[in-house]
Amino acid sequence: MFGKKKDIPQIDKDQLELIKNAQKRIKQKKRLYVHFVIFLIGSVFLILFNLGLGFGESFKPLDTNWFVFAILFWLFLFLYHTFNVFITHKFMGKDWEQHQLNKLVAKQNERIEKLKQTLPSDDTLLKKKAIPNTSNLTIIVAAAENDAIGKHNKLIWHISDDLKRFKNLTSGHHIIMGRKTFESFPKPLPNRTHVVITRQTDYKVPQGVILVNSLDAAIEASKSDNQPYIIGGGEIYKQAILVANKIELTRIHESFPADTFFPKIDTSIWKESNTVFHKKDEKNEFDFTFLTYIRK
Ligand SMILES: NC(=O)c1ccc[n+]([C@@H]2O[C@H](COP(=O)([O-])OP(=O)(O)OC[C@H]3O[C@@H](n4cnc5c(N)ncnc54)[C@H](OP(=O)(O)O)[C@@H]3O)[C@@H](O)[C@H]2O)c1
Repeated sequence: MFGKKKDIPQIDKDQLELIKNAQKRIKQKKRLYVHFVIFLIGSVFLILFNLGLGFGESFKPLDTNWFVFAILFWLFLFLYHTFNVFITHKFMGKDWEQHQLNKLVAKQNERIEKLKQTLPSDDTLLKKKAIPNTSNLTIIVAAAENDAIGKHNKLIWHISDDLKRFKNLTSGHHIIMGRKTFESFPKPLPNRTHVVITRQTDYKVPQGVILVNSLDAAIEASKSDNQPYIIGGGEIYKQAILVANKIELTRIHESFPADTFFPKIDTSIWKESNTVFHKKDEKNEFDFTFLTYIRK
C-alpha cells in the first residue's frame, strides 16, 4: 500500500503534437480516398442514368452528353480536394498558422504602443479635471445677418443702444477677449476687469489688465466674478461657444462684407429665451434685435 509509485511513461509535448498531426493527416488522406471511391462509383451512376436509363437524353450542351460535364465538374472538385491535402497543407499548415498569428499579435502590440503614446499622461488628465467652472460664462456679441462681426480689426456699424447695453451688462465684471480685440480699443474700458488672451510671452499690457495664454486660463482668472463675459473677437468666440452657457446677441438686420464672423448658433444646442426688436433711428443706423440664448 505504501510501496513505490509505478513509473507512468511520460510523452512530451512535442511528441504529442507529432502524434496529433499524424492522426490528422491520416484522417485527411482517408477522406480523400473515400472521395475518390465515391467519385468513381458516382461517375458510373451518372453514365448509367444518362445513357442506360435515358435520363435527360435530349439535354446535350455543345453536342455532348451531360454526364461528361457532370463528371468533369466532379473531377475538378476532386482535384481541388487533392490539392488541399497534399499542397495547401504544406504551406498553410501549423507553422503558417502560427506565423500569421505572431504577425497579427505583433501588429496589435504596435498599435497599442502607438495608442499609449497619444493617450494623455496622468498629469494631463489631472489638469483636465481642473477645467474651470463655466456655468455663468456669457458671450456678448453683435452680429449681422451674415454673422459678420468685424473688418480690419474694427466694428462695422454704429448702434448706440447696443453699446449702451454692452456697457450696462459688462460694467463691474470681468471681460475676456482676444489680443486683437483688446488692441481695437483706444484704451481699456472703465469699470471692468480686462482679461486678455495671447500666445505671446512678452506682450505688454497696462496695469490692471490680466494677461493669460488660453481661454481656460482666462476663465480661471475670472472665477471670483459670478458673471464673466466673453467679448470677442472671432477666434475667441469660436472657442468660447463650446463652453459658454449664455449668448447675449445683438442681431443687426443687414449683411456686410467682413473678415471676422461669429460661429453659427446651433439651435439644437441653444434655446432662444428672450427677444426684443428695435427699429433704426437717428442713433441706431440699422434695425436690430436683442436676443438671449441659453444652452439647452
Ligand atoms: N461685433 C462684435 O460684437 C465684436 C466683438 C469683439 C470683436 N469684434 C471684432 O472681431 C475682430 C477681432 O477678432 P479676431 O478673431 O481677429 O481676433 P481676437 O479673437 O480678438 O484675438 C485673436 C488673438 O487672440 C489670441 N488667441 C486666440 N486664441 C488663443 C488661444 N487659444 N490661446 C492663446 N491665445 C489665443 C491670439 O493672440 P496672439 O496673436 O497675440 O497670440 C490671437 O491672435 C475685430 O474686427 C473686432 O472689431 C467684434
